[in-house]
Amino acid sequence: MSTVNKQILLVSRPTGDAVASNFKLVEAPLPELNDGQVLVRHHYLSLDPYMRWRMNDAKSYAAPQPLNQVMIGGTVGEVIESRHPKFKVGDMVAGMGGWQQYARVDAQVPGALRKVDASRVPLSAYLGSLGMPGVTAWYGLMKICAPKPGDTVVVSAASGAVGSVVGQLAKAHGCRAVGFAGGAEKCAYVVNELGFDACIDYKAHATPASLLAALEAQTPKGVDACFENVGGAVFDATLLRMNDFGRIALCGMIAGYDGVPTPMSRPDLILQSRLRVEGFIVSEHMQFWPEALAELGGLMAAGRLKFRESIAPRIEDAPEAFLGLLKGRNFGKQLVKLI
Ligand SMILES: NC(=O)c1ccc[n+]([C@@H]2O[C@H](COP(=O)([O-])OP(=O)(O)OC[C@H]3O[C@@H](n4cnc5c(N)ncnc54)[C@H](OP(=O)(O)O)[C@@H]3O)[C@@H](O)[C@H]2O)c1
Repeated sequence: MSTVNKQILLVSRPTGDAVASNFKLVEAPLPELNDGQVLVRHHYLSLDPYMRWRMNDAKSYAAPQPLNQVMIGGTVGEVIESRHPKFKVGDMVAGMGGWQQYARVDAQVPGALRKVDASRVPLSAYLGSLGMPGVTAWYGLMKICAPKPGDTVVVSAASGAVGSVVGQLAKAHGCRAVGFAGGAEKCAYVVNELGFDACIDYKAHATPASLLAALEAQTPKGVDACFENVGGAVFDATLLRMNDFGRIALCGMIAGYDGVPTPMSRPDLILQSRLRVEGFIVSEHMQFWPEALAELGGLMAAGRLKFRESIAPRIEDAPEAFLGLLKGRNFGKQLVKLI
């Protein structure tokens, strides 16, 4: 075992696009444990769009990432030392270990660490479809979009960690699932592998009218529920197709994270179509996680919840992989392999 812990710190805040020099790789000694603590060797780090918000010192639902500290991040790994009676060496665990190879965790803090079973699904799935992104999809779809059989559900960033689960879950509940994704390859995957009814390559449409025509063709009965991950042009088009009393789960607006937030062209349609629009943050709905994970786990076991991953091979690659995620260069859940 190494005695060195490679870590990535946030050392400056972006002005506009995030850049690699906002981060710094450092080496620290492995920490000593006190009673109640465990040492986790990370196998995978999750890279997620919310991290871009945390890089700013601005109004948000969560405090900014402090400078010169290890970047926040979800992790899965293995307990390699324990001074807590409920965790033993060899246990596989999920937590918020951050952008580093090892983490010392106060295991007595509720929710700091949860044991996971990697014997039936890959460990990395607990950072994707069976982790935070999966529960995000489940909560937004089931609790806000409230799908009924026969409804048409539209989801943006459809090949990604959240969007891929939204569409498959919508199909499992008898809906028509239509995705937006960037590029022909992602769209082919969304339809042929994930089983969506249709996927629109928004990059192939240079004008709002062309994008709307493509959506009209795939949503002949209009749109009953929108799970919005992106904002901007795709959201504008979807708003124009919403049926009266439709539901919109506002999950993310990634098109505006790395610079100027994207405006909505027709907010009046919320009124005209009497829409219900609700933003949500998945970590504020912890009471639904067991129910969500039970359904998602069942679907995965039955082969009805598929996923794909983009895996950066080393911790040194985490900043570039994260910057790529913000530009849509990932294809599926973005991870960093740390072992
Ligand atoms: N509310 C919550 O609690 C919560 C929790 C988790 C995630 N989220 C949100 O859910 C959304 C999806 O997250 P995820 O983890 O599943 O990410 P992801 O979809 O795996 O990756 C992000 C994707 O966004 C798409 N995208 C579309 N327009 C973009 C643009 N202008 N710039 C950059 N990317 C663009 C890209 O796919 P294409 O190439 O297909 O465009 C990119 O691959 C994000 O908005 C995130 O903030 C919210």
